[in-house]
Amino acid sequence: MGIGGDNIAIQFNHLQKDFGLAKYLVTGGAGFIGSHLVSALNGLDHQVIVLDNLSSGRRENIENWLGPNTCLVEGDIRDQSLVENLLAETAGAFHLAALVSVPQSIERPTESFSINLEGTLNLLEASRKQGNKKIVFASSAAVYGNRHSYPVSETMAGQPISPYGLHKLMCEQHAELFANLYNVNSVGMRFFNVYGPRQDPSSPYSGVISIFIDRLRRGLAPTIYGDGSQTRDFVYVGDVVQALIKAMNSKKQGFAAYNVGRGESVTINMLWQILCDVVGTNLPAKLGPAREGEIHTSLANISKIEAELGYKAEITLQEGLIKTYEWATQ
Ligand code: NAD
Ligand code: UD1
Repeated sequence: MGIGGDNIAIQFNHLQKDFGLAKYLVTGGAGFIGSHLVSALNGLDHQVIVLDNLSSGRRENIENWLGPNTCLVEGDIRDQSLVENLLAETAGAFHLAALVSVPQSIERPTESFSINLEGTLNLLEASRKQGNKKIVFASSAAVYGNRHSYPVSETMAGQPISPYGLHKLMCEQHAELFANLYNVNSVGMRFFNVYGPRQDPSSPYSGVISIFIDRLRRGLAPTIYGDGSQTRDFVYVGDVVQALIKAMNSKKQGFAAYNVGRGESVTINMLWQILCDVVGTNLPAKLGPAREGEIHTSLANISKIEAELGYKAEITLQEGLIKTYEWATQ
């Protein structure tokens, strides 16, 4: 698998005139979503400091951009003085570093608390101490839990059913409190299921599309957990990067949370079928036990982010799967 998939920056050139040249901190910038953001920021001629402990991210993901405008600092978001020093050099932070797997958070809830909540709190506190640098951070659709009605909107109260979802919700609550008490401006981006090039398939906890594509490449059947009727709103990483940049660019004061999805969902059974069609194969999936603590249905109402940030999900699932498959097999 190559690095590839880096034409994403091109589609953001029109944002440059509004955005002003600046230096940004990107935590988790060596990871899947973060590395695409680093690429886009470079394409807009911004400077970038990546803070990443390389626990799931890889230096190779951002190797192409390391140089005079982009540097990688290997360190932990829970290191308070490091985070303060790095934020001091920048105009604001995109905060993506996290323990990202729902099942892993169920196995290791205190680690999720420490990385996901305390890490975010560390950054909010650093911002407060430094004259309120803007923070755009990754929240999650997992804050919604299971609902009676769909699509889910930002006006619905959070009802998480996993440590991961709870800790992401608590990040938002702290961010709102820091906005009210200390005027720290921040945006919580409730990503739905993000996929695309550079998503790492190597762990059983990896994103489902990366795993399914890896299985297809090797001619192996995947395992679908449960009966496969669960749904997800899959959003291409290029659209997520667009949303992140628009959130940083927004002049809105205080705290806001936004759904970042496509507003369409598919069952996991359908996902496998679509992927088989893309590749031109017909391999039946195996069924395994359902995962504990995961939501069944996921579907975003994206009218708030469309209206307030001018976000538009550009890439259809079919288009995004083709791009991702092509990257994985190049
Ligand atoms: P990823 O695992 O590729 O990226 C996470 C990055 O954070 C990695 O580079 C990892 O090395 C780094 N990291 C982890 N712990 C760290 C620590 N203590 N200090 C410094 N760096 C640390 O995952 P991703 O899919 O790119 O996720 C990025 C963000 O988006 C996360 O906050 C995740 O919770 C959120 N999110 C992702 C999805 C999705 O579908 N991928 C959906 C909703 C939310
Ligand atoms: C994902 C993200 C999480 C994010 C959330 C938002 C990852 C690893 N997790 O969680 O960070 O906050 O979306 O909605 O990116 N599945 C299979 N077979 C597999 C793997 C998965 O059937 O081999 C199923 C799972 O049971 C689940 C669905 O596919 O029903 C999606 O799983 P996964 O990609 O792990 O994502 P989420 O748990 O939804």
